Amino acid sequence: MNGTKRSRTIAAGLLLALQASILMMVFSISAVAQEGLPSAKSGFEAKLEYCKTCHGLSGQGYLGYFPMPRLAGQQPEYIEAQLKAFIERRRTNPIMFNVAHVLSPSMISALANHFHHLNPPPFGGAPRSALATGKRIYDEGLPESNVPACSACHGAGGHGQNEIPRLAGQLYPYMIGQLAGWSKERGQGTAVDTSAIMAPTAHNLTRPQIEAVAAYVSTLQ
Ligand code: HEC
Ligand code: HEC
Repeated sequence: MNGTKRSRTIAAGLLLALQASILMMVFSISAVAQEGLPSAKSGFEAKLEYCKTCHGLSGQGYLGYFPMPRLAGQQPEYIEAQLKAFIERRRTNPIMFNVAHVLSPSMISALANHFHHLNPPPFGGAPRSALATGKRIYDEGLPESNVPACSACHGAGGHGQNEIPRLAGQLYPYMIGQLAGWSKERGQGTAVDTSAIMAPTAHNLTRPQIEAVAAYVSTLQ
């Protein structure tokens, strides 16, 4: 190889190497753009991921230090009403106040709509010994203690409607906590809200009756 030829080969090699490294840079930039850095994610996706860290990857609920309620299949009007109640502190819960008060109304609607369309199987895990009693309370109520049939409002299959929540597949320990502590958490402040509709029913149930009906609805699909 003579001198000129060698330097041409080296120049061509350098050019190739330069092209390759430019290509690699372009590829790695576009990979970042495609996969997205967390901050580049749309606001909706980032929020949804945040909700799912507590409420479960398919909104099925989660048993942590606190029971995180199922949101999957929940009525959008109910989700929106409860987020508003947390924000206005009519429903007191420090975790959900912090989560909810930064959400815009359009974000709340988008999240409610997303969770409504998820349909994972029930979380499960409730004791099965009182299922028959629970079903009777759910379908017929307890006339002797002024407890109406739950099905009259929550629907025969427990799917709820509008601001009346879905109970089907809801987590057993979460429902016990809500029914047993109804007026400690809900209906705070001076304004009367939808929580007042449930208050007498929650108060008139004994602990074993709460456990029975919570176990029953937690098994509904
Ligand atoms: C750090 C954990 C955590 C995060 C994150 C979180 N939640 Fe919650 N959420 C909870 C807990 C705990 C409760 C139960 C509160 C209670 O006992 O009243 C709850 C309750 C709710 C309820 C009421 C459900 C019912 O059946 O009444 C809704 C609606 C809700 N969360 C929506 C959301 C949405 C939407 C997001 C995301 C923007 C979200 N949550 C993020 C922990 C969390
Ligand atoms: C007259 C209608 C009505 C009847 C009957 C009724 N509920 Fe409700 N229930 C509601 C409404 C409305 C809410 C939403 C309350 C709120 O806005 O805080 C609710 C909420 C609940 C919740 C909270 C769910 C959640 O996700 O946090 C549980 C649990 C519940 N009801 C269980 C029952 C059980 C068990 C019965 C039967 C013993 C029953 N309800 C009967 C109207 C009713």
